[in-house]
Amino acid sequence: MAPPIDKRSLPSRRLAIVTGGAGFIGAAISSRLADAFGRVVAFDNLHPQIHPDHTPSDGFDPRVELFEADVTDPAAWDRLLAGGGPDVVVHLAAETGTGQSLTESTRHTTVNVVGTSTMLDALHRNDAIPGRIVLASSRAVYGEGAWRRTSGEGAGELFYPGMRPARMFEAGQWDFPGAEPVAMNGATLERHPASVYGVTKSAQEDLLRLWGDAFGADVAILRLQNVYGPGQTPSNPYTGIMSLFCRLARAGQAIPLYEDGQVRRDFVIIDDVAEAILAVVGAANVPPTPVDIGSGRYTTIAEAARIIADVYGAPEPVVTGRWRHGDVRHAWADPEPALRQLGFTAEVPPEVGLPRLAAWIDGQTPD
Ligand SMILES: NC(=O)c1ccc[n+]([C@@H]2O[C@H](COP(=O)([O-])OP(=O)(O)OC[C@H]3O[C@@H](n4cnc5c(N)ncnc54)[C@H](O)[C@@H]3O)[C@@H](O)[C@H]2O)c1
Repeated sequence: MAPPIDKRSLPSRRLAIVTGGAGFIGAAISSRLADAFGRVVAFDNLHPQIHPDHTPSDGFDPRVELFEADVTDPAAWDRLLAGGGPDVVVHLAAETGTGQSLTESTRHTTVNVVGTSTMLDALHRNDAIPGRIVLASSRAVYGEGAWRRTSGEGAGELFYPGMRPARMFEAGQWDFPGAEPVAMNGATLERHPASVYGVTKSAQEDLLRLWGDAFGADVAILRLQNVYGPGQTPSNPYTGIMSLFCRLARAGQAIPLYEDGQVRRDFVIIDDVAEAILAVVGAANVPPTPVDIGSGRYTTIAEAARIIADVYGAPEPVVTGRWRHGDVRHAWADPEPALRQLGFTAEVPPEVGLPRLAAWIDGQTPD
């Protein structure tokens, strides 16, 4: 649990802008910020893939002002900033489809990279440099991440294997032989993104860091693992694997597991992510290096699928051996830096949180 936000450091006249503030994470964070800031603006274009009915995500607080505009539109930024600059910006607006980003790279790059630079130029042009910018970055910046050799020459050494080649998948060789994966840690590990989406998140980090150093704005980078929970758009087929599993199990189907089902992920519930973001907004000092935000441990896809199948009384999940080129084998956050630097530790383990997601999906789509 993050320490409670120190409201004395957040005078009530202060303005927070949350780009992507009408989305899954944005609705949760902007609502919480409305407790601490005098004015909270959600800068969001209500992207039709996320908001097919053109309304903000579940839980969007009426105290939050929706400023409906595209982050790549300089004139929209000028209109918003004409009323005064923000004290804090939480930057969430993004195209988030990892697989989709390979074939729609212009769209992803435009929103994620040019959208970020458009925001920064506007903040400067309007003499509106905020005290702090918080970026929701992603585990995607690590790609396949770091592995440690367990045997042979160089045992104990870290290496970055890069994307798994097709021949590994075809041979059913899911893990790198003679090695074990390492928890993600932004203070110690390199970035090796393996998707266009990951490249754009990595570029966002660099742009913000460089700009913050130049203009004296604190920049905090949180690299989020797999966020799930109530409010996650059930209609977007490109994100939210747990929502998909819920829908399959609810329909009485066996959840198909890719590879051998032993893919590791770190499923962190939205409430915990919101607390982590609040902790960094209110922290006396921002962490000097990116901080990884997860549930505190990994869960295999098979374990997560079984939790969901049990909720619905669905058949046992089935290992299919199918694979997708570009899928990362294992990903989970080292929880220690977030605890040490932000006092953040996740409260809700997946076995408690995933049934909550299922209950919310049931409420959205009654029989
Ligand atoms: N959900 C996760 O598991 C996860 C994991 C790692 C990082 N992140 C990051 O967190 C952030 C928020 O993700 P989310 O899960 O809430 O996604 P989301 O799709 O629910 O929210 C993104 C919001 O941004 C808005 N948006 C998209 N393009 C825009 C544009 N051009 N102009 C203005 N608004 C635009 C959308 O309408 C949406 O409301 C993203 O930056 C994402 O990269 C999310």
